[in-house]
Amino acid sequence: MSGPSTYEPKNAFTRWLDSRLPILRFANDTMTTFPTPKNLNYWYTFGAILTFCLAVQIVTGIVLAMHYASAASEAFASVEYVMRDVNSGWLIRYVHMNGASMFFLAVYIHMFRGLYYGSYKAPREVLWILGVVIYLLMMATAFMGYTLPWGQMSFWAATVITNFFAAFDSVIPGFGTAILEWLRGDFAVDDATLRRFFSLHYLLPFAIAAVVGLHIWALHVPGNNNPTGIEVKGPQDTVPFHPYYTAKDAFALGLFTILFAWFVFFDPNVLGHPDNYIEANPLQTPPHIVPEWYFLPFYAILRAVPYKLGGVLLMFGAIFVLFLVPWLDTSGVRSARYRPVFKQLFWIFLIVCIGLGWVGGQPADRVLFTIAEAAGDSPARVFGVADLGLILTILYFAFFLVAMPLVGMMETPRPLPASIAQSVLGKGAQTKAAA
Ligand code: HEM
Repeated sequence: MSGPSTYEPKNAFTRWLDSRLPILRFANDTMTTFPTPKNLNYWYTFGAILTFCLAVQIVTGIVLAMHYASAASEAFASVEYVMRDVNSGWLIRYVHMNGASMFFLAVYIHMFRGLYYGSYKAPREVLWILGVVIYLLMMATAFMGYTLPWGQMSFWAATVITNFFAAFDSVIPGFGTAILEWLRGDFAVDDATLRRFFSLHYLLPFAIAAVVGLHIWALHVPGNNNPTGIEVKGPQDTVPFHPYYTAKDAFALGLFTILFAWFVFFDPNVLGHPDNYIEANPLQTPPHIVPEWYFLPFYAILRAVPYKLGGVLLMFGAIFVLFLVPWLDTSGVRSARYRPVFKQLFWIFLIVCIGLGWVGGQPADRVLFTIAEAAGDSPARVFGVADLGLILTILYFAFFLVAMPLVGMMETPRPLPASIAQSVLGKGAQTKAAA
């Protein structure tokens, strides 16, 4: 699909530039004439929406950094200063704060779209893997960013999460603690930790931007997948990217920014935690430490087993397994549209992920229902949030490690359309066109 260039410089300047730095040719071939399947639906607009989110985070973040002080004694007050005294500081901060949530909302839709249409399958494995790298970088960036306001949740979330590395002490005594102190730069989360988190939080979005560049490059070699999952067979299956998809992306972006603006202007703190408006106090642990909503499923997996190292390995495993998806799925058909069994499992998997998110937000010792009353010396048998977390964690891994390989081998897919054009127009319309 990357094919020969269709660019023709129109004047003396563009001819001159083209023979020195063919940047206009590049822009033309990738964003204007690029042949794009004609059946991309609105789930395909999230790539553009994500690019927008990244730009918003970088621009608002740079402005916030102009006023932010990364010393533990000043950080909380400097954020309040941005909110009260800096011109439009409240707006910049609320856009950045809610922008992180909107970014994760968009990336989850983008990833589930990829899973549904089998966009990770050959020849798009590298594209998918680069996506998972971006996702990891996004998680690291968001985690460090949340520490910066130096509120109670910032401090305690950073303490709890970094503490998990101490679990490696049970493998090599002292090794976990060494990693922990190296990460924190101190024996506890403190000034040194805050300063390095700020430095890395500023750096990583640029690393994300670089990997996004590779991601889009890897997209443009095979070209887009599409909802049918079948390859483009000729020009009848495609339309130029501009104006068809520039217009569609712009429309979707307009709707997305309405939702974004609703959060910023009507309920800017609803996705956050009220305790983060209390300055960090190392001597007072909040009763219920929770991460931001987008980390809750992984937090549930971390707490799914009662021993620390197991939880840490499961949590990293839950992300690492995404790298293997292109090889775990054994089906010859890409799109879930034509895979009746996989389609059901996909929806169950989505519910499992939402369930894990709910579990991650609950106190770990919450009892959901009692199975048997207490009798004699034996206490009542109960089913709690922890039990549900374990079941959902098993289902999460079962989707990737059991369902994906087995269903691919056993399921009988539905008949595929002969071409993208046929799936868009329907058989009748194509026959009429031919006549
Ligand atoms: C900053 C984050 C990201 C940006 C800016 C981004 C950007 C894009 C863009 C512009 C496209 C083409 C349009 C579209 O299909 O929506 C795309 C496609 C794709 N992305 Fe991403 N992406 C990001 C994160 C991810 C992540 C985390 C994954 C998966 C783990 C991923 C996997 C894919 C796949 C598989 C495709 C091809 C879809 C298809 O052709 O069916 N991306 N991305």
